[in-house]
Amino acid sequence: LLHDLKKGKMSKLFIIANRLPVTVEETAEGNFYRQSSGGLVSAISAYLRLEDSNQFTKKIWVGVSECAERVWASAESVTPPEYDFKPVFVPPKLYEHYYNGFSNSVLWPLFHYFPSFADYQPSYFEGYLKVNAKFASELERILDPKDTVWIHDYHLLPLAAMLRKKFPQLTIGFFLHIPFPSYELFRVIPREWQHELLSGMLGADVIGFHTEDYLQHFLTSVRKVIKARIDHRTISWDGRDIQIGDFPIGIDYNKFQGASSDHGVLTKRSEYLRSKLDKRLIFSVDRLDYSKGVFNRLKGYREFLVQNPHYKEKVVFALVIVPSRDTISKYAERKKLIDEYIGNFNSRYGNINWQPVIYQYGHLSFEELVGMYTACDLALITPLRDGMNLVAKEFVASRRDRQGVLVLSEMAGAANELTEALLINPNDRKEIAKMIKIGLEMTPDEQERRMTAMQKRLQEYNVVTWAKEFFTALARISSEQMKKEPL
Ligand code: F6P
Repeated sequence: LLHDLKKGKMSKLFIIANRLPVTVEETAEGNFYRQSSGGLVSAISAYLRLEDSNQFTKKIWVGVSECAERVWASAESVTPPEYDFKPVFVPPKLYEHYYNGFSNSVLWPLFHYFPSFADYQPSYFEGYLKVNAKFASELERILDPKDTVWIHDYHLLPLAAMLRKKFPQLTIGFFLHIPFPSYELFRVIPREWQHELLSGMLGADVIGFHTEDYLQHFLTSVRKVIKARIDHRTISWDGRDIQIGDFPIGIDYNKFQGASSDHGVLTKRSEYLRSKLDKRLIFSVDRLDYSKGVFNRLKGYREFLVQNPHYKEKVVFALVIVPSRDTISKYAERKKLIDEYIGNFNSRYGNINWQPVIYQYGHLSFEELVGMYTACDLALITPLRDGMNLVAKEFVASRRDRQGVLVLSEMAGAANELTEALLINPNDRKEIAKMIKIGLEMTPDEQERRMTAMQKRLQEYNVVTWAKEFFTALARISSEQMKKEPL
């Protein structure tokens, strides 16, 4: 009650993430807003569109604008009515250090267990802190101490502490969308940076991770670096209690279930079914990224064809890679290697009538994506490391027919929930080959049994349940903090 009185139930919700839900596209006809893509954007936008988020008087999404202020200002206003958004403008050079540099050339490779890909340039870290400070100063102008702030992902690890300094009473949540690595990896970051990153996160009231493992790794790092007092899932530090929790992100289940009967999706699905003729169809879609394990996937598929030559000309693998971060050399190199590998593969194993791999480097529309999810016989998802992997969940949710098989890497956070998938170790190409065969030959009854169990879980723990559980934890801890403070 005290908490409600103090908050006056007039809380605005600020979603803070690197990426905004929209970008501005410059065209000959004018500049228009275009929907951004990515797991974080689709999950949070889905929550903000739903009734449950109306407990907040206003919803504002704050993120970096990908275009200049002048271009943003000229865009036709098509703000979705459900929420507002506020762009933060970052000069290109600074953005380079913060996004391509520290976020994606230090934190991303390290947190995905690619330590040799990390490049510890001091200018990257300086740029990273500067952009976080810019977020903090922009927010200071529009925040009220009784508002609720929900910060997302590895681009903004120091932000909670920066805001806490200005607004000791603010309710702050933080959620990490990628794995938190073992301390043995985290400790390779320069010591001063380790401290800055962890104490930055500890500015929040609740810190969420996808899995219990990531949470435990984080606690070990806090214990070793910050030396804070830890009692089960509560960290006491700097005069405050911080709650840690695992909240595996869900998807907008009904959207994907419902989509399988949309006209556009059905049209795409029949197009794909027509073009595959009597062949079995394997499908995968990922952003361009070394953590997604595209090579081991292709090697596993090749092994399957070698071991089962009677499948030649009877199966095709549709592999879609969505362009991402391709101005970073490790990503551009990967693209080149994948292109070469597939060219080689098709020329050696294929013939004039048949190519074992159909490859697209580009975006898929929603209709194309669900068209593929519902047309394929098997989804092959083999990341070497993945915080969650929403593609696996979307594929399962789309299969209203309860058919289709999911082959999934046990290194994806989603493997904890999708236990009826055929789980593989992505480094074991023989196992991938074996599971492809088992999957393609699975009886319809067995497919249905597995799909039904996975769908039940995804329907129950969807994106709304995820956000609700996070906000419940946040409300509980912030009201406990309030009780300690005088009115
Ligand atoms: O997986 C982490 C993540 O930040 C997602 O939340 C997001 O969908 C994806 O990476 C996309 O990354 P970027 O914003 O760099 O394109």
